[in-house]
Amino acid sequence: MNIGPAGVDDIAEIAALEAEAFPLDPWSPNLLREAVGGLVPTMALLVARSSADGGAADFLGYAVVSVVDVDAELQRIAVPEERRRSGVAGALLAATHAVAGERGATRLLLEVREDNIIARTFYERHGFAELGRRPRYYRDGTTALVLSTPVTMDP
Ligand SMILES: CC(C)(COP(=O)(O)OP(=O)(O)OC[C@H]1O[C@@H](n2cnc3c(N)ncnc32)[C@H](O)[C@@H]1OP(=O)(O)O)[C@@H](O)C(=O)NCCC(=O)NCCS
Repeated sequence: MNIGPAGVDDIAEIAALEAEAFPLDPWSPNLLREAVGGLVPTMALLVARSSADGGAADFLGYAVVSVVDVDAELQRIAVPEERRRSGVAGALLAATHAVAGERGATRLLLEVREDNIIARTFYERHGFAELGRRPRYYRDGTTALVLSTPVTMDP
């Protein structure tokens, strides 16, 4: 697996996964284009692909992190359904920690829907603890949990 900065060629696959994984508030291809084009300097977009052996490398998922001062925020992380449960998100999270650490962040924060049990299990397994709650944070009225973990280059 290779993980690196996303480019314009990744936008179509990321946008398609956005629509599938976050149907209530997907990021548009335009917003993604701005992000990969460097127009949002605090933001880094990482894409995971299979290691290509001559052929085309399969899209395995992506993560978006923004870093402001000592706080990094994991804004997005998603893996296509047929690729889940094989460690891709874990690898993307490790790469996110590395970017956050390089940019001087000391903690990694995120918001997760209270009803997203799979993501909550994933974050718990990766050392995140609850920092607070934001009632009715999402458009459909669901509460957001704010989770945090120290940034480490070796998560
Ligand atoms: C959450 C998500 C990114 C995890 O991706 P993934 O590549 O499947 O995760 P990994 O394979 O690295 O999983 C690592 C661990 O997370 C937990 N986990 C992942 N999927 C799980 C599931 N379906 N049920 C229970 N635990 C699960 C397990 O602890 C798993 O370890 P294990 O496989 O050794 O038991 C993926 O399910 C996804 O894209 N969901 C939709 C988008 C989303 O909700 N993103 C988070 C928004 S806050």
